[in-house]
Amino acid sequence: MKKILFVCLGNICRSPAAEGVMQALVAQKSLDKEIFCDSAGTAGYHIGEPADARMRKHAKKRNYSLNSRSRQFDARKDFLEFDYILTMDDNNYHNVCAQDEDKKYHHKIHRMVDFCQKKKVSEVPDPYYGGDQGFENVMDILEDACEQLLEHVRKNG
Ligand code: 4NP
Repeated sequence: MKKILFVCLGNICRSPAAEGVMQALVAQKSLDKEIFCDSAGTAGYHIGEPADARMRKHAKKRNYSLNSRSRQFDARKDFLEFDYILTMDDNNYHNVCAQDEDKKYHHKIHRMVDFCQKKKVSEVPDPYYGGDQGFENVMDILEDACEQLLEHVRKNG
């Protein structure tokens, strides 16, 4: 069983959407027993909350349902438990890397956009303070990255 953790700032927009897209791909390929997905935020502002209604709406348009509740990234547990930690933007990447004090888990931390093939972007931009287009853009980037991420995990374990 490989475990994948998606990380953004609040864990109510980008990382729950990444979790939903990846879970759908995993289910579609009947890999539920091989790949487990979860998500977390570097900040604790929204602990216990469901995904943002706007993010859920844009995910639903593409047939993904987002069922996560926000939780904060926990360095004591998450570095041990997860095989892949996918961060959404540069801030999330540096924040998670800084919590890996001895650089023991550095090989587990990746930028989500490094798995993109169609969309060449440097980050999954935070859609929180923007409009519909920002959420659609997040979904486009995540669908692209999740496809390659799944292939990577299947090939490399
Ligand atoms: P996320 O988006 O990191 O994709 O979940 C945000 C959610 C909440 C806030 C910022 C970004 N906030 O400032 O509360």
